[in-house]
Amino acid sequence: MRLTFATPDQKRTGAYIVFATNGGKLSSSADQLDKATGGALKRALKNRKFTGKKGQTLAVLGPAGVKASRILLLGVGKADKIDDLAAQALGGAIFRSLGNSGDKTASVMVDAIKGMKMTGAEFAANLAYGCQLRSYRFDRYRTKEKPEDKPSLNAVAVMLRDVAGARRKFAPLRKIADGVFFTRDLVSEPANILFPISFASRLRALAKLGVKLKVLDEKQMKKLGMGALLGVGQGSANPSRVVAMEWNGAPKAKDKRPIAFVGKGVTFDTGGISIKPAGGMEDMKWDMAGAGVVSGLMHALASRKAKVNAVGVVGLVENMPSSNAQRPGDVVKTMSGQTIEVINTDAEGRLVLADALWWCQKTFKPHTIIDLATLTGAIIVSLGHHHAGMFVNNDKLSDQLLAAGKGTGEALWRMPLGDAYDKQVRSQIADMKNVGGRDAGSITAAQILQRFIQKDVAWAHLDIAGVAWSNSDAGTVPRGGTGFGVRLLDRLVADHYESK
Ligand code: BES
Ligand code: MN
Ligand code: ZN
Repeated sequence: MRLTFATPDQKRTGAYIVFATNGGKLSSSADQLDKATGGALKRALKNRKFTGKKGQTLAVLGPAGVKASRILLLGVGKADKIDDLAAQALGGAIFRSLGNSGDKTASVMVDAIKGMKMTGAEFAANLAYGCQLRSYRFDRYRTKEKPEDKPSLNAVAVMLRDVAGARRKFAPLRKIADGVFFTRDLVSEPANILFPISFASRLRALAKLGVKLKVLDEKQMKKLGMGALLGVGQGSANPSRVVAMEWNGAPKAKDKRPIAFVGKGVTFDTGGISIKPAGGMEDMKWDMAGAGVVSGLMHALASRKAKVNAVGVVGLVENMPSSNAQRPGDVVKTMSGQTIEVINTDAEGRLVLADALWWCQKTFKPHTIIDLATLTGAIIVSLGHHHAGMFVNNDKLSDQLLAAGKGTGEALWRMPLGDAYDKQVRSQIADMKNVGGRDAGSITAAQILQRFIQKDVAWAHLDIAGVAWSNSDAGTVPRGGTGFGVRLLDRLVADHYESK
């Protein structure tokens, strides 16, 4: 969808969007439209429950006296409570209301809202950003959809005085949205289209943005000793890959050591020989969401030319049952030298990450490493779909991540780590086993990952199993792959890891 900014004297088209604050108080543009329509807005307000609450809408269709196809009155709530997240949510509400309305274009009248703490430009940019994010749709494989069933809205003009300011604020946001869309595309693709090799090819798009790519094939991984990652992929006809994406945007040599992001990229997780039940197994096409988020994040950082050295590493495998598949009870040797007894072949993400994390540290020497993975069903039992689980060995990094989560609406909840949990993964035959029993399943998974983090590296593991996919539209996130993590980690980098 096309988002543009224009001054209020420019031509308006399609639906007109105006605001009301709590108590149903009309903005000045709304007031003007009410007068121009002979009081249509106020009449409509009389018989309705509309109170101007944040996100509430009231539509007046085909109003007399103006060119608008409709006037959409949008509640913004209490003016002094409007922040960037609220503005984004309002942008999402605009698409929610008009996306399928039949209108192709809309004009949003942003006039000074009394008591609002952000500038008009900030408000407009965030509104556009939210509208853009909500407009995402993965319809590549719908060949028979009638035009009237497709979303109609394809251009929104945000009208305000400070057009230049709004454009300046929107430019980086637009790039973050591109990164989110890159992730959502990857997460939405079915596993017959997106498998390790095709995933790696898709990442070539990043080279155009100045990202350096390095791809490891199975031969190279064997040489490196990545027995855990290769063990997961060995049952699949699709060979495994590891891809590193390097973005060197820091200007000064002293900022050389990078921050690293590592993603679980299981392009399909059948469970392997410990096979999953059929019901809902199709969801396991998005078991690569961690890798998808890392890719979209690198896309965002590179396209907005973030002043940071960052590296993304994705471990790409398909977990299949076959005569070559690894068996429960197999012992694999990781690149770190540690051995793992594979009790359950469905606990494969930690095996992939064990080698990806180790290789990342060996190769790039990051000071900080953040991994993302749809790692455990247990995190959904713990936190549902409203927080990702965060496991972290460093309180400062924890605080930074929690704050970035609050600021972007991608919420995290800190979970514990500790020796008592670590004991659960002791093995009789190897250095550890890959599952620690039913209790505290997300924590024991994190304990295994921690065994592959080197001393003095700040590390966080985000278990995104509950937030990577959504079955309903909400706010700035339509149903499907959410891209959860891109906005969060982009903010983390912007706030704490970029040179000034
Ligand atoms: N990919 C799954 C976790 C998952 C479940 C992600 C539901 C998204 C939605 C992971 O590989 C897995 O199978 N985990 C097992 C671990 C168990 C065997 C210890 C699980 O959670 O059941
Ligand atoms: Mn699994
Ligand atoms: Zn999995």
